[in-house]
Amino acid sequence: MELKGKTAIVTGSARGIGEGIALVLAREGATVVVNSRKAKDCEQMVQKIVSLGGKAIAVAGDVSKKADVTAMVAETIRQLGAVDILVNNAGIEGTPCLAADLSEEQWDRTLGVNLKGVFFCCQAVIPQMIKQGQGRIVNIASTAAIRMTFFGSLDYTVSKHGVAGLSQHLAWELADSHITVNTVCPGGVHTPLMESGTTPEYREMTIKRLVPLGRFTTMEEIGEAVSFLASDRAATITGQMLAVDGGLLTGFGEDLRPTVRQRMAAMKAGGKH
Ligand SMILES: NC(=O)c1ccc[n+]([C@@H]2O[C@H](COP(=O)([O-])OP(=O)(O)OC[C@H]3O[C@@H](n4cnc5c(N)ncnc54)[C@H](O)[C@@H]3O)[C@@H](O)[C@H]2O)c1
Repeated sequence: MELKGKTAIVTGSARGIGEGIALVLAREGATVVVNSRKAKDCEQMVQKIVSLGGKAIAVAGDVSKKADVTAMVAETIRQLGAVDILVNNAGIEGTPCLAADLSEEQWDRTLGVNLKGVFFCCQAVIPQMIKQGQGRIVNIASTAAIRMTFFGSLDYTVSKHGVAGLSQHLAWELADSHITVNTVCPGGVHTPLMESGTTPEYREMTIKRLVPLGRFTTMEEIGEAVSFLASDRAATITGQMLAVDGGLLTGFGEDLRPTVRQRMAAMKAGGKH
């Protein structure tokens, strides 16, 4: 229970990775502010957290709208009196397409939620965190923030690279207020949405070709990384990007380990390499 007494806003936490983060933070004792666009979805997640013995309140709002974000933070402070942790998780992928076919509308929508939304939420909590003398901001980007991957199109990659830049800049700017800002970069995460949108064969093929550890990350495992970065154990970690990706960014697509081992054995035996 290392987050006991803390208040944590988790955007986009009515389902998916946000749900995993909300459940882990609540398990660690934080009171979670469940946010998503629809109030009913937020209420359902609050009930789930409460049924598991945790504490949560629902505050709906669209992170890409500044007025919604201002109202969400004001409501949090009104009900709970503090904002100790902000997790910017809400994000969209957009319709997969090639750059030549990317519409201005999709560009604006993806960057509006994935990047401007993160900016609005950070900007809204900073004065409160400065007043409290400390704070933790954890932004959920993607491996697409570190290296281009084929997850998502150009707009998605650009938005997540933007989150990386925003996080690093804020980490520096807020360090003397004892506010840390870090970025978690998931690779493939098994969410209900992924399950409903892909076949088991496609998932198996993707894992085999991309993930050295041999499976997707769970929603809760992303929550564990966030929980650590939000805890006192991570007090001097700021401006960092943590890939939670099963080894995806090691860069080997196909599983090349048998070939590499064979080559090493040949070299050891004095053969060509
Ligand atoms: N699932 C993956 O494999 C994966 C991999 C890398 C990064 N990510 C990132 O993780 C985050 C969560 O992804 P997910 O797979 O759980 O997605 P998801 O679609 O399952 O859940 C996203 C949640 O955010 C909410 N949301 C969307 N737009 C919003 C807005 N404007 N305002 C408030 N809430 C909004 C949705 O209603 C939903 O509850 C995203 O930032 C995504 O880019 C996901």
